[in-house]
This record gives sequence, structure tokens and C-alpha cells, in this order.
Amino acid sequence: MLDRRTVLASGLAAGLAASFSSPVLAAEADGLSKLAERSGRRFGSAVAWGKPGADRGSFANPAYASILERECSLLVPENELKWQWTRPGPTTFDFKQLDAIADYAKSHGFDLRGHTLFWLPEKWYPKWLVAHDFGAKPAEAAEALLTEHVRTVCRRYGTRITSYDVVNEAVQPETGEIRDTVVTKALGHERTLDVMFHAAKAEAPHAQLVYNDYMSWERTGEDETHMRGVLKLLEGFRKRGTPVDALGIQSHIRILKPLTVAELVSEAEGPWRRFLDEVVGMGYKLLITEFDVNDRKAPSDVAKRDRMVADYAKAYLDIMLSYPQLKDVLAWGMVDRYSWLEGFDPRPDKLKKRGTPYDANFKAKPLREAIASAFASASVQAA
Ligand code: G3I
Repeated sequence: MLDRRTVLASGLAAGLAASFSSPVLAAEADGLSKLAERSGRRFGSAVAWGKPGADRGSFANPAYASILERECSLLVPENELKWQWTRPGPTTFDFKQLDAIADYAKSHGFDLRGHTLFWLPEKWYPKWLVAHDFGAKPAEAAEALLTEHVRTVCRRYGTRITSYDVVNEAVQPETGEIRDTVVTKALGHERTLDVMFHAAKAEAPHAQLVYNDYMSWERTGEDETHMRGVLKLLEGFRKRGTPVDALGIQSHIRILKPLTVAELVSEAEGPWRRFLDEVVGMGYKLLITEFDVNDRKAPSDVAKRDRMVADYAKAYLDIMLSYPQLKDVLAWGMVDRYSWLEGFDPRPDKLKKRGTPYDANFKAKPLREAIASAFASASVQAA
């Protein structure tokens, strides 16, 4: 870490300052992780594997790597720990791509999160798992499959992975209940989650164990059912003594209505704070695990859109950073060009989305400034 920071302090920060046109931004040439550190926090990003030379949001892409190395102290694999990548079959594992990310993280002094030991919706299972025959004793077979997975991953990466999204997206947003899948049907809904967390606790006692989900602060009706479902899940964990340390709030925040930022925030803030208060009231820590902004209903004009995205993000981050229980903030990618948002829910005007801190040409945008200024003004220290 020291080496990278020394390099930062000398040359790269100057490069960053030069890339900003505004003197205010130039004055804030400290990387985002450096700014986050002032309130005891960390800033990081998802990163992809990507063949060397391929145009991807990968550490193997020098332009992308230089942004990661300048801005982040924490990385998370965008896809490479998911079962679709690591579990080609019921008895086989493939860690090539995750190893490459872990090696890069280690050699460049980044901390590493693990996303995810189990992504619950069946849609994201490898094909073989959807069709898996759990035999005459399905609960035992499912438990063995899950615990073997946790054991294999946790033993391979040891203390190199310091925080895991042990379970991702267990709650069905429309109902607030735990999702039905081939695994939850075999093992039981709550039991599936409990097995995952107990196995993770046994195999990675050093690690922070996170339940991660995408309930969001926008007032959509579905998000409110989703929030209630997540609260019920978190209460259940506490009642049963399931070892869960934190709630990962993905934070794919969205501009879904043609309103001003002030109007959007004023309808979202109260219920969102009540939700966060209940979560921390149960003793959970908070993380922002996958931050970006879906600008679907923001204006077409790029300057106006960038401003709105930045202002919306700043309002959200200010609220989140008012919680001392929130220590880590991770973006779900740093550059628009590689963002998953591009392939999801297109804008009505078909223009490219602009929901990450850097544009398609690796130039910092007002969103990067908004994140910097949220960290700079965060008076509450992370606990
Ligand atoms: O790499 C293959 C490529 O070899 C193949 O030719 C191509 C054909 O479809 O697919 C490529 O894989 C794609 C992969 O992204 C890498 O680009 C997958 O199809 C695509 O499904 C995958 O999408 C990812 C998605 O999760 C599903 O795993 C997104 O990158 C990733 O950003 C997204 O991340 C999720 C979080 O895990 C959970 N929270 C929501 C978030 C956004 O959806």
C-alpha cells in the first residue's frame, strides 16, 4: 500500500489534477480512497478479469488500472467469484480469473472483498445447478454442496479476502419473502442462508460476513416491500443467532421520475433513514457495495444530466455517510464505457448512460467530484 501511495503522492496525483479543467477539482487531486480515509472510511470498486489487451473494466487494461490505483484502496470482483464462473460442475472448481484479480490486488496493495459466495436467484445459477438432482436426502445434499463451496473458496483465499457477500439477493422484491429456488426448496429457505453464514464463519473467522441486496431508496412500491422483507430477514438472523455482521446496500440508485433532485430526495429520505435506523438498531454495520447511478429519466443534455447525477449521488452519499456504521463505499465500476448499466434498461432517447465517476474516455465527471466532496464533508467518523 505504501508503495502505491508514495507513487500517488509524487506523479499520478499531478496527472489527475492536470486532467481536470476546474481549479476546484484540481485542488482535490487526492484520490477518493485518500479522501475517504479522513473519516476512517475506504473507497473501492468492482473490477473485471478481462483478457490482457481486451477493452474491459479490467486491471489488465492500463487506462482502467491507473484509475483504480489512483482512486481505490479496495477491490471486489464484478463476476469472477460467482458460481457461473467458479463452478463449472458439481465437483469442479475454476479459479483462474479470480486468482488473477486476487494476485493483482495483492501486488498493488488493495484490500479485497468477495462477491459473492452464493447469489440466490436461480436465474444466476450455472445450468447444471438448476437441473441438479439432490437425491433421496435433498437437504443433506444441498447442505454438503453449499458448505463445500464455502470451504473451498475460503481456504483458497484465506485472509486475502477480508469481507464476503456471503449471500446476495435472497429476498424476492415483490413479496418480501425469501426466494424459491432449487436450493431453497431442497434445504429450506432460512436454513439455506443459515448454512451459508455458519459455514463462512467456520471457514473465514477473520472476515466480515455480509448479507447483500438491492433494496433502494426510490419510492417505487416494490422497493418498500423489498425493504420490509430485508428487515424481516435481518431480524430472523438475530433471533436465530446467525453470524451476520453487516448489510451490504448495493446502491444502484436510480433517477426514475422526471422530478428535480430536491423533489426526488424529499420523497425518499424519510423512509430510507427509518430503514437504515432499524438496520443499525439491530447492531448491523452498513456497506455501500455496488454504487452507481441509473440516469434513465435524467435530461438528454449531457451537462445537465451529469449535474443531476452528481447532485442526486451527493444527497444519497451525505445521508449514508451520516451513519458511523458505514465504513466501506464501493462503486460498481469506475468508467461508463464498461458499466453493466449500458446493457440494462436503456434510456428512452437511446443515449449512453453516465452513471459512473469517469466517462467513456476515462475523464473524471461531476459524479467523481460529488463522491469526493461527500467524503470531504463527512463529519461522522466510521465506527
Ligand atoms: O464474459 C462473457 C463473454 O465471454 C461472453 O461472450 C458474453 C456473452 O453474453 O458474456 C460475457 O459474460 C457476461 C458478463 O457480465 C461479463 O461481461 C454475462 O453474459 C453477463 O450476464 C454478466 O453480467 C453481469 C451480471 O451481474 C450477471 O452476472 C454484470 O457484468 C455485473 O455487473 C452484474 O453485477 C450484479 C451484481 O453481481 C449483483 N447486483 C446487481 C449487479 C448488476 O446487475
